[in-house]
Amino acid sequence: MYAIIGGSGLAKLSALQKQRRRVMRSPYGEPSGALTFGQLAGREVVFLARHGYGHTIAPHEINYRANVWALKELGVQGVFSVATVGGVRADLGPGTLVVPDQIIDYTHSRKNTFFEGAEARVTHIDFTLPYSARLRAALLEAARAAGEPIVDGATYACTQGPRLETAAEIERIAGDGGDLVGMTGMPEAALAREAGLEYAALGVVVNHAAGRGESRQQVKLEDLENVMRQTVTRAVRILEQAVQGEP
Ligand code: HPA
Repeated sequence: MYAIIGGSGLAKLSALQKQRRRVMRSPYGEPSGALTFGQLAGREVVFLARHGYGHTIAPHEINYRANVWALKELGVQGVFSVATVGGVRADLGPGTLVVPDQIIDYTHSRKNTFFEGAEARVTHIDFTLPYSARLRAALLEAARAAGEPIVDGATYACTQGPRLETAAEIERIAGDGGDLVGMTGMPEAALAREAGLEYAALGVVVNHAAGRGESRQQVKLEDLENVMRQTVTRAVRILEQAVQGEP
């Protein structure tokens, strides 16, 4: 079974038919909300709203470990994560859909591993290629099938938030090789790898990052909602196709 983790603009997956919910607890605390099961374009999937169903959990407050643990416990094999992002690279403007292939992690003070504490052995995971090549390919193929333009490959820079970045921070991220900036990609992707879950992300660009393009002077937050709504609808069309393949 596939899981879909929805971010801002995707707190409910209304395309999901015959929904039923299950509240779960984990050794790490509670997931962001109940897990919602249902059929997406005829395929059984489980959906989780990363920020909670009422969008009340800030990026640094999300219990990423509980979320990933719950999906693993349910026997999920593949995870598609939808995340709204700012575009750092000039060609990644609002409305662009991207399947990133790399990550730079600027977050701090987040619980970022399952392998800690008295009983856990110190364990290192390989994270050279942080996303599943197979699920990335599935998203790209699904986009083609859905007739949605999509960008193959970008480096996702994960910042701590919840504030947006300064223009200088975005300059630094660009210099580091970051193409997109978001607040929730980590430690989610690393925990999925630790748990042995295949994981890929679908980035929904909703604004030019701070200091770039239309955001030269400020990021106009009031404009984001509209772009988000339209682009997330396109993202869901891609997911409907993507879940048709083997999880
Ligand atoms: N920065 C960080 N996270 C984001 C942004 C941004 O500009 N836009 C959407 N999520």
